[in-house]
Parts: sequence; C-alpha cells; structure tokens
Amino acid sequence: MSEKQTQLKVSAIKDGTVLDHIPANSIFQVIDILDLNHTGNPVTIGVNLESKSLGRKGIIKIADRFFADGELGRIALAAPEATVNVIRDYEVVQKKKIVLPDVVVGIAKCSNPMCVTNRQAVTTRFKTLKEGEKVKLLCHYCEKTTEEFIPLRH
Ligand code: CTP
Ligand code: ZN
Repeated sequence: MSEKQTQLKVSAIKDGTVLDHIPANSIFQVIDILDLNHTGNPVTIGVNLESKSLGRKGIIKIADRFFADGELGRIALAAPEATVNVIRDYEVVQKKKIVLPDVVVGIAKCSNPMCVTNRQAVTTRFKTLKEGEKVKLLCHYCEKTTEEFIPLRH
C-alpha cells in the first residue's frame, strides 16, 4: 500500500445512512438527537478521524435506516456542516445537506435560568435565527435569545 490511505477507517455499509463531517465534539450530541442509543439498527461510529476541512471529524453509519428530512434537520444545531449520504447496495445514491428547521422543539436548553422550561417540565421550543453562520435561538416561552446551542441532555 502506498502512503495514501486506501482503506475506509470505518467499514462500508450496504444500505443505510452515513452522517459524515460531524465536528468531533458534536458526535455524541448527534447520537442523542437522533436517539441512536435506542435503535435496534447496527450503528458504527468513528471519532477524531482526520479531515481536510474540519481537522478532526466524526462519522456515524446507521445500517438499514433512512431518515426523513425533518429528522435530519434536528441535527443542524449540533452539526450544521454534516453531510448525509444515502447508501443503497454499497453505492452513495444521494448526498443531502442538513437544513436548519425554523422551529426547534425539545433539543436545546434555554439559557435563561428563570425560563419556565428550566423550572417546570415544559418542553423547550425555539424559533431559529440565522446571523451569518451563527444560529441563535429565540425562546417561545420567555422570548430571550440563547446565543449558543446547549444540549438538553449531556
Ligand atoms: N460510505 C460507506 N459505505 C458505502 C459507501 C460510502 O460507509 N457503501 C461512506 C464513506 O466512507 C464516506 C461517505 O459514505 O464516509 C461518503 O462516501 P463518498 O461520497 O464515496 O466519500 P467522499 O467522496 O469522501 O465524500 P465527501 O465528498 O462528502 O467527503
Ligand atoms: Zn426561555
């Protein structure tokens, strides 16, 4: 073998979804958002793999599972630059971009300690506001803006 890496670092899958170019420190957030710790499908995960664009990236491969665009949009807060590859019979048949949803329900935490969502069992709900590359979250309940994504569970 030459110096060039010719082997996949994480095995190829026959059918399913490959989430690629996930920032290494967001990988467990993505697993949580997609609830992959409760799936019965085979999931392979690579963390801290080399990437030209990200330095270090993460990758998640879910065999025999295809996600609706809305489900994938939920990971926009943790990994907006992730690529979604749809695999059928070992071939990449589609590449999708993650689309930030207008409304985010039950993923992020409100940064306002006085917010009802931090005091009672109320599901969080935000409107997303895009400012250049940055995404801010406008709380439906307290109307405060949360500047950075704080995962609900961590
Ligand atoms: N992949 C896989 N199983 C397959 C085919 C592809 O797990 N049967 C994975 C590859 O390992 C890669 C991703 O799906 O992580 C996308 O594959 P491909 O488009 O061939 O790779 P790149 O060209 O490197 O993708 P990009 O341009 O998005 O970086
Ligand atoms: Zn709030």
